[in-house]
Amino acid sequence: QLMKVFVTRRIPHEGMRVLTESGLCKVSLWDSDEPIPRADLLQRVSGVHGILCLLSDRIDTEVINAAGPNLKVISTLSVGFDHLATDEIKKRGIRVGYTPDVLTDATAELTVALLLATARRIPEGVEEVKNGGWSSWKPLWLCGYGLSGSTVGVIGLGRIGLAIARRLKPFGVKRLLYSGRTPKSQAVEVGAEFVSLDQLVSESDFIVVSCALTPETQGLCNKAFFSKMKKTAIFVNTSRGAVVNQEDLYEALSSGQIAAAGLDVTTPEPLPTDHPLLKLKNCVILPHIGSATYSTRGIMAELSANNLLAGLTGTAMPSELTL
Ligand code: GLV
Ligand code: GLV
Repeated sequence: QLMKVFVTRRIPHEGMRVLTESGLCKVSLWDSDEPIPRADLLQRVSGVHGILCLLSDRIDTEVINAAGPNLKVISTLSVGFDHLATDEIKKRGIRVGYTPDVLTDATAELTVALLLATARRIPEGVEEVKNGGWSSWKPLWLCGYGLSGSTVGVIGLGRIGLAIARRLKPFGVKRLLYSGRTPKSQAVEVGAEFVSLDQLVSESDFIVVSCALTPETQGLCNKAFFSKMKKTAIFVNTSRGAVVNQEDLYEALSSGQIAAAGLDVTTPEPLPTDHPLLKLKNCVILPHIGSATYSTRGIMAELSANNLLAGLTGTAMPSELTL
């Protein structure tokens, strides 16, 4: 009797191949690029031993109950795990796989791209070229902010935060600050100074959020936060939308309290097309594509499949989340 697994979306073929060629499980797939409706998810997980899910699937007590007592492993195709009810999962002895490290470079690259696009107003410039707004080379037109000589603050100097810092240094950044729960030994490599959140916010020309979403970081970037930022500073978030109070960010951007924001993550996702943030020229929003390179997504799929198999067979996972 083969163990049963449910895959909540079409994933890169590298992952499906690992599952089918293992001969260890019977794979059932939500064969679509669109999210599985909640009712279908609850029905399709019934009796499975393993679930391979995405960050857009909320795996809570209801889903775990719907799966039933066979469930041994949840493998998420993401490094973030705020969509998983980890307390409940731990209580039941279910193992969790995730995909750290393999997406660090891709996500750091996207963060740098978004930071530069926001600071140098690239989407606005592209739009002006298309709509006839480009009348001449103008000394005062489409000016933004540069990294050279600047102070960059990274909130959460983890794997991705460090990779972002490494990439920004060669732009001539003068000071690198970071904040978080504790100082990190790896900060030495990039010469980053551990400072309080307050100091980071008030002294940085660029603030990059790359911390995990936890109860501590939820809503961290709020009215008080934005009011301490320099008026010329740029805010970039590539972690999770809920780290930001979006109403407060809107207020800060529309009132000129801060210069601009670049977001790869929002609340909700997708952001409705009539959302006020989308009307602001000084806000660049991307559809959560931090890890979206062909090769990274292939490797993530393979890793999440291997994590799932290890969970089924009770062996060591390539990337297990310690709960
Ligand atoms: C992306 O946001 C991820 O958590 O992998
Ligand atoms: C810009 O194109 C310059 O030549 O200054």
